[in-house]
Amino acid sequence: MNSLPASHPLVDGRTSDAPLIRALHGHRPERIPVWFMRQAGRSLPEYRSIRADHRMLDACVNPELASEITLQPVRRHGVDAAVFFSDIVVPLKLAGVDVDLVAGRGPVFADPVRSAADVRRCRAEFTADRLRAALDPVRDAVRLTVAQLGGTPLIGFAGAPFTLAAYLVEGGPSRDHLRARTLMHADPETWRELLDWAAELSGVFLEAQVEAGASAVQLFDSWAGSLSAADYRAHVAPASRRTLDAVRDIAYRHPLRDGYAACEETVPAIHFAVGSGHLLEELAAVGVSAIGVDWRTPLDEASRRLGDTVPLQGNLDPAYLGAPPERLAAHLDDVLRRGTRAPAHVLNLGHGVPPETDPDVLTRLVELAHAR
Ligand code: CP3
Repeated sequence: MNSLPASHPLVDGRTSDAPLIRALHGHRPERIPVWFMRQAGRSLPEYRSIRADHRMLDACVNPELASEITLQPVRRHGVDAAVFFSDIVVPLKLAGVDVDLVAGRGPVFADPVRSAADVRRCRAEFTADRLRAALDPVRDAVRLTVAQLGGTPLIGFAGAPFTLAAYLVEGGPSRDHLRARTLMHADPETWRELLDWAAELSGVFLEAQVEAGASAVQLFDSWAGSLSAADYRAHVAPASRRTLDAVRDIAYRHPLRDGYAACEETVPAIHFAVGSGHLLEELAAVGVSAIGVDWRTPLDEASRRLGDTVPLQGNLDPAYLGAPPERLAAHLDDVLRRGTRAPAHVLNLGHGVPPETDPDVLTRLVELAHAR
């Protein structure tokens, strides 16, 4: 695909001037766009009530449920974007990989991928074609969601190849991803093949979401922070670039409206990694519209490091969600003030919403940010 269908919300004008899309293209809309990573999920009682009857990965491939869960935080909080309810392991699962999401832990793989033979078997068995043939539930969920979102953009997402590989090699969550980083140095050729395969599956997953109606994408490279800048550049960045190549050239013509000239645009992409203050330049070099910054690096410092050329997303510290309202408000003002240094700012947390968050705090935060 290299152009969007006429019925896509970026093409028919539903979302092309939405605050999120304008900010990701480097503008400063009148209202700062706000959304939260993990806004759908356990902080919401209406989510917990659905999950009481459905397993996580079953909900991800049930179009009605995935769409309903995606819409819940938009209805409740009035955020400026929906983020598609799914998980970074869904493309692996749909391609046939035996993976489960274990409560309180995360992804667990029946067969860790550790040797050259393991990687070869995965590439031969769990192919991009097999994934493409299994993606209808995702496409249907996106279509159902977008039909109800009106002018609110849907953000599609995928896990970056390193984060997927870290889970695949370890077989599950790990602290410092030592096995994965060891494979990278012990057998760089096998490592490259593993990342290329993960990149292809993530790219196919992103492309399907955009084609079905997502107006932006975010690449979650959650565990990239465990890498040095040199290792990221040499052993990881090429694969992340490859994932984004799947959507990079999908162009659309921005309609002439409100004095803004009609022009060719591409679907905006956000790149986010936790604990990645030392990698900002590397993350930007992968070629994206905006960088998600975690709570450890102040936005003005991040912007300065990037030559004040890159729109930033972030970076409220999730720990403030449990602090007294006046401290949260002061933290919000500090983040907004620092964010003015960047060409554009999308307000978000510096990582996902913690499950124990009081959802009313998030609703008030959105109101407060919109009123500033
Ligand atoms: O942000 C959103 O609202 C969209 C949905 C979303 C989920 N996972 C749903 C989910 C997104 C974008 C993800 C991405 C994801 N999944 C990442 C990258 C983002 C990040 O947090 O850095 C990672 C590393 C995963 C892997 C994963 N899946 C973990 C670590 C867990 C948590 C395990 C646990 O129980 O604490 C999951 C499960 C998961 N993915 C849940 C949700 C809502 C919780 C499932 C539940 O019990 O209901």
